[in-house]
Amino acid sequence: MKKPATVDIPAQAKESPEAEVLLKVTGLAKHFPITKGLIRRQVGAVKAVDGLDFDVRRGETLGIVGESGCGKSTMGRLITRLLEPTGGSIEFEGKDITHLGVSGMRPLRRDVQMIFQDPYGSLNPRHTVGTIVSAPFRLQKVTPEGGLKAEVQRLLSLVGLNPEHYNRYPHEFSGGQRQRIGIARALALKPKLVVADEPVSALDVSIQAQVVNLLDDLQDELGLTYVIIAHDLSVIRHVSDRIAVMYLGKIVELADNKGLYGAPMHPYTTALMSAVPVPDPRRRGAKSGRILLKGDVPSPISPPSGCRFHTRCWKATQICATKEPPLLALKPGHQVACHHPENAPDQAPGDQPLPGAADAVAKATE
Ligand SMILES: Nc1ncnc2c1ncn2[C@@H]1O[C@H](COP(=O)(O)OP(=O)(O)OP(=O)(O)O)[C@@H](O)[C@H]1O
Ligand code: SF4
Ligand SMILES: [Mg+2]
Repeated sequence: MKKPATVDIPAQAKESPEAEVLLKVTGLAKHFPITKGLIRRQVGAVKAVDGLDFDVRRGETLGIVGESGCGKSTMGRLITRLLEPTGGSIEFEGKDITHLGVSGMRPLRRDVQMIFQDPYGSLNPRHTVGTIVSAPFRLQKVTPEGGLKAEVQRLLSLVGLNPEHYNRYPHEFSGGQRQRIGIARALALKPKLVVADEPVSALDVSIQAQVVNLLDDLQDELGLTYVIIAHDLSVIRHVSDRIAVMYLGKIVELADNKGLYGAPMHPYTTALMSAVPVPDPRRRGAKSGRILLKGDVPSPISPPSGCRFHTRCWKATQICATKEPPLLALKPGHQVACHHPENAPDQAPGDQPLPGAADAVAKATE
């Protein structure tokens, strides 16, 4: 990744060192090549993930949030090594796993599991629940103590399903139950890290809370570490200890739950949050002052120069179009990549506004 440009800022806040790092990601990138013609000449690249730095600490839930197409799923598939990174490195328990081959990855496949969004598409409709949940044991050639059937039944009851239903097929279950089957399969080999990509967004709202609570309970019971990807800020708020906000392949803000929701620093985060209707009845009818971002997310094939958010940011100044703001800890445990953060000292005071910046948003006053 490009070295962050030096800016005149106060010394960065120190991270608290107490929590053990399970996964460490440095400069992680994934560029999908765009090819043309018979010889598939590369003519460009989709910069889906373009330089991410973050840690996942043992026992925590790290939430990843951002609009569609910002690279959340690509990030999830990179850290579970379902995709080969183009750049950067991934360390798991201190071991570099960035480019491990199939055999090198085999032991890690037990430790790192993924839960997918679509609880139907990710389960083979021709296999019974028993076959699906026992697949990880067969793949890893592990025989559970007490036998395979007993272990599958134990896992089914662990996720709140009837253990007698191991002979049924996915279509005989509801969406929420199917997601529970996916969770049972992911937990079969007692993983250390579970990456869940939009685990509840395909479910009815009434079922979402049940599955979120199940994930929560299982985390406590089994000491799991989660990376949970969602575009829904209220789900993320409910489950996460810390949250990374992504925009166009980058992390723009990373903070603990209280810090992010209490005093967001990145204008994009502020906009995302103000788009969520406030359920507080005292505020109903009052002017909401909601920020509505105008325009579409730019293409990750040719992202904007400088700060990638500058084409939609109402605070943008000249420096924002030319110099990429580095991700800096401006408060303990609270990192942000912005020249003019909210709730923190301005990093480039006195810079001239970009023409049209003030029109980048509409303020809804309902
Ligand atoms: N295999 C691929 N080949 C080319 N481009 C891809 C590929 N996979 C993803 N992309 C592109 O990379 C960008 C990031 O996609 P990704 O699926 O990671 O986003 P996302 O944040 O998960 O979005 P959503 O919220 O819609 O799930 C998008 O522009 C997408 O079109
Ligand atoms: S103020 Fe500048 S650096 Fe900060 S988000 Fe807006 S455009 Fe980016
Ligand atoms: Mg996705």
